[in-house]
Amino acid sequence: MSFTVAIDGPAAAGKGTISKAVAAHFGFHHLDTGLLYRAVGKKALNYSRTSYYPEIAEQLALELTAEDLQATDLRTAEVAQAASKIAVIPQVRTALVQFQKTFAKQEDGAVLDGRDIGTVICPDADVKLFVTASARVRADRRFKELSAKDPSVEFEQVYQDVMARDARDAERDVAPMVAADDAHLIDTSTLSIEEAIQAAIAVIDAKK
Ligand code: DC
Repeated sequence: MSFTVAIDGPAAAGKGTISKAVAAHFGFHHLDTGLLYRAVGKKALNYSRTSYYPEIAEQLALELTAEDLQATDLRTAEVAQAASKIAVIPQVRTALVQFQKTFAKQEDGAVLDGRDIGTVICPDADVKLFVTASARVRADRRFKELSAKDPSVEFEQVYQDVMARDARDAERDVAPMVAADDAHLIDTSTLSIEEAIQAAIAVIDAKK
């Protein structure tokens, strides 16, 4: 029987870490849906670094392959911004819906994390979590991650990027990032990774 866990929230709130841990704990399949948008965003960047054409972006989304999701450079700040930009295009979102819905209904259970999982992709999910943290805390986490690879990265730039992405993801017309009415809120601002994971597992255990 399928069991779907929908985990939404802004960048660097911890939803990826929580999703992976929850999937491992319960033996569920896991899909990081941000990777779909990142892969399309990266292809759109390769096509043109200045404009995002809806018809082109839609075509890129329709042609996405499993291999595209394995690319090693999908986690850069530039690709993150591109992903957020092509994610406002309704045709791109539509092109990616069916794959996500099918993934969610797998036997053995599935965890999907993203921005619109509990509201648009899986409105009937068995458990919905909205994982968040203050913008400063999230920027600080992202800064530590990025500056470990590139010491020239500046906190203020990372903070501005996080804020810009939040605004674009939350204010778009189609499938904006918003907590579903029936989502459980987990604020990780003052939680350790282990505490955040345990909070998520407790909510799911209560439902199972
Ligand atoms: O989760 P992430 O940071 O990898 O996501 C990258 C971008 O993709 C995010 O800024 C907005 C978009 N996205 C989306 O619109 N809907 C999703 N379900 C997942 C990601």
